[in-house]
Amino acid sequence: PDRLVVAVDGTSGSGKSSTCRGVASRLGLRYLDTGAMFRAMTWWMLAQGVDVHDAAAVAARCEEPVIESGTDPTGPTITVDGTDVAAAIRTDEVTGSVSPVSTVPEVRARLLALQRAIIGADVEPAGIVVEGRDIGSVVVPDAPVKLYLTADAAARASRRAAEQGAVDVAATEQLLLSRDQIDSGRATAPLVMADGAVHVDTTGYTLDEVIELVVGMVDRVG
Ligand code: C5P
Repeated sequence: PDRLVVAVDGTSGSGKSSTCRGVASRLGLRYLDTGAMFRAMTWWMLAQGVDVHDAAAVAARCEEPVIESGTDPTGPTITVDGTDVAAAIRTDEVTGSVSPVSTVPEVRARLLALQRAIIGADVEPAGIVVEGRDIGSVVVPDAPVKLYLTADAAARASRRAAEQGAVDVAATEQLLLSRDQIDSGRATAPLVMADGAVHVDTTGYTLDEVIELVVGMVDRVG
């Protein structure tokens, strides 16, 4: 691309969102959470009563919702048909349904077009940190910086449970692992470590340490 794009992929709960927002804030870049777009699509399907396990039904309706993402890292926004869904897309119901919806090729094609339009938009700042599962492999394969973030499942589960005030860490871990499995096993744009990506295992590090590491990598690229 003609601009700085930091492509960040990785497993669920690996610290992607906090890391990406921190890096974008520090460097004065925009931030795009593509997972929020898949969640918004899923929220809309559930609200319409579409069976999220019926790929044909999901494909038939996925052009309908108007999904808009704001890219300010200090306050990213997400709306569907003008309604703020930032909280609604984080419920267990949406989290439990998002991976099947994300396997549907028509859903991916629709959101890919939206993602590329946002990434390439003629705005200031042009540079952007983009997080998801297929950013370095499919969405922006020529991104100048690519990262693949992971963490031990137990560490991910306890972080996620703490964020959500959840008590059942084991159940949280099962949910994360089952999402990873669907995301990695699907035919279209599975979660993989992209060519040229740097693998960072965040297990033993604080958020600030990971942000520092990534800021250093981006600085070296220019
Ligand atoms: O990042 P987050 O956990 O919010 O993403 C929710 C889900 O959206 C993932 O589990 C995955 O199924 C899907 N997703 C995807 N491709 C992306 C981003 C997210 O398939 N680029």
